[in-house]
Amino acid sequence: MIRLKVNGTARQFDGDPDMPLLWYLRDTAGLTGTKFGCGLGQCGACTVHVNGQPTRSCVLPLKSAAGKSVTTIEGLDAKGAHPVQQAWKQCNVPQCGYCQSGQIMQAAALLKQKPKPTDADIDQAMQGNICRCGTYQRIRQAIKLAAGVKA
Ligand code: FES
Ligand code: FES
Repeated sequence: MIRLKVNGTARQFDGDPDMPLLWYLRDTAGLTGTKFGCGLGQCGACTVHVNGQPTRSCVLPLKSAAGKSVTTIEGLDAKGAHPVQQAWKQCNVPQCGYCQSGQIMQAAALLKQKPKPTDADIDQAMQGNICRCGTYQRIRQAIKLAAGVKA
């Protein structure tokens, strides 16, 4: 039996402990805001926070999340009004939207760790999150807006 917290709610699961966390979140917990992109840990679409750390849920076996606290895009803010989400709206960041929950989760983790990130900090934190629509410039703008640093 695996026990974990998802968006503040205690959950338990007695299925395959090697199932990727992403499968659990989408198919069992019904939290479909987290997306499947590559399934190989290479695109960032599936990024969630595990004990506050940005984590690729497609390559994390559920057993590795046991006893931990997972936050998905649905749990980032009860009203969808986290400063990163607000900045995203203001900058009209998304295009097709597919990569965006992963981008937002990655950016939120960055700002928690470094509230005033430099360009180099942003490059380093966001380099693994791929956007096939090329919204990178607006992502950078929105991160800076959320951080209150000059664009
Ligand atoms: S779907 Fe997880 S990194 Fe691409
Ligand atoms: S907005 Fe389309 S993949 Fe990023």
